[in-house]
Amino acid sequence: MFTKNIIAELERRETPLYYYDLSLLRDTLQKAVDAAAPYGYHIHYALKANFNDRVLQYIQQAGIGADCVSGNEVLKAVEIGFSPDKIVFAGVGKSDKEINQALDAGIFAFNVESVQELSVISQLARAKSAKARVALRINPNVDAHTHHYITTGLDENKFGIKTWELNDCLATLKANQENIELIGIHFHVGSQITDLNVFKSLCTKVNEFNQWFDERGYRVKVLNVGGGLGVDYQEPDERPIVDFEAYFSIFDQFLPKFPGQEVHFELGRALVAQCGTLVSRVLYVKNGLKKNFLVLDAGMTELMRPALYQAYHKIERLSMDAPHGEAVKYDVVGPICESTDCFGKEVTLPVSHRGDLIAIRTAGAYGEVMASRYNLRNEIRYLYSDEIEE
Ligand code: LLP
Repeated sequence: MFTKNIIAELERRETPLYYYDLSLLRDTLQKAVDAAAPYGYHIHYALKANFNDRVLQYIQQAGIGADCVSGNEVLKAVEIGFSPDKIVFAGVGKSDKEINQALDAGIFAFNVESVQELSVISQLARAKSAKARVALRINPNVDAHTHHYITTGLDENKFGIKTWELNDCLATLKANQENIELIGIHFHVGSQITDLNVFKSLCTKVNEFNQWFDERGYRVKVLNVGGGLGVDYQEPDERPIVDFEAYFSIFDQFLPKFPGQEVHFELGRALVAQCGTLVSRVLYVKNGLKKNFLVLDAGMTELMRPALYQAYHKIERLSMDAPHGEAVKYDVVGPICESTDCFGKEVTLPVSHRGDLIAIRTAGAYGEVMASRYNLRNEIRYLYSDEIEE
C-alpha cells in the first residue's frame, strides 16, 4: 500500500499528518454500491465517521446519501452537494435550532429518538407550516457483541425509543398528522460488528416491529437498519475492503419487505476506515531495562481511539530500506501529558530510530473527526494520494 513514491513524499512532509488513499476509497465505495444495487438497497454514509471535504466529495459522487447527527453535519452535507432527499438526521439530543436547520434544508427524514422529540419536531414544523418526515429509532435490545462503549442497541443504552413507548408514539403521530408523517422505522445496534449473526438477529427484530406497525395500520416505507459493519484492524492490507456482498445478502435472506418498502443502511466505518492512515515520526527512542519506548510526534490528540477504547490499530514502520537489525518490542506512545496517550504496547517493529516514519493504520474512521487541540496541538495536516505522482 505504501509505495516508494508515497514514502518519498511523506519523508518531505511535516508530521503528524493524515494520509488518505483516495483510490482505495473510490474502490471501496464502488464495491459497496455494486453490492447493494441488486437488492435496490439505499446507503447513507454516517458523516460522523469522517467529514473531511475530499472524502465527502468522493462519497457524494458515488451516489450515496448522508446520515447526519448534528445541524452542522446537515449543513455540511448540503454544502458538499448531497441531495436533501438523501439526508437523514439522527441523534438523541437534537436542539431546536438544529431541527429548524434540517426542516429548512428539506431533509428526507428525522430519525427520532424519543416521544418528546416527536412532539418538538411537530411543533417546530407547525410553526413553519411544514410537514416533517420521521422514522422512529427503536431500541431493539440486540447485543452487538462489540466493545461496550460502542454498543447502542441494548435497553440500558440512552439511544432510541423503548418498545413500551411505541404506543405513545403512535398517539403523538395521530394527534399531529398535519405536521409529522411516519415514513420509517430505524435501528442501530452498535459499531465495529464483525459477526454477521448480529445482523441476522437484528433482521428478526426489524421483522417483528415491521409487523407490529403494519397491524396497527402503519405500513412504513423505510426500514432503516443503521450501520455498524466492522473492518479488519488486524490485517488492513489483506482485507482492505469488507465483504459487502456477504453483508447485504444477510438482509436479503432474513429481512423480507412488504410491497413498496425500501431498506436503508447507514454505514460509516466500513466505507472510510481503511483509506486513512495517521503518519507520524519517531521523536525519541527510550530504551529501558524492562521496556523500550518509541515517542512519536502524533498522540491521542490526532487519534483518540486507542486512548479512549483501548482500540487496536496496526502500527508499521515506513521505510524505503529493508529492515535491518533485529525486531524489537516497543511501547509506542505520543507526546501528550496523559498516561493513556499510547498507541500500542509491546509492538514488534524493526529497530527504529529518531526520524523514522511510523504509520498507524485503519485511521480513516473516527480518527481525524475525534481529534482535539488539547495541549494546543497543531491543526490536522493532510496528504492525499492524488497529490503524489505515480
Ligand atoms: N447510525 C447510527 C445511528 C450510529 O450511531 C452510527 C455510529 C452509525 C450509523 C455508523 O456506524 P458505523 O457503520 O460507523 O459503525 N467512535 C467510535 C464509534 C462510534 C459509533 C457511533 N455510531 C469508534 O471510534 O469506534
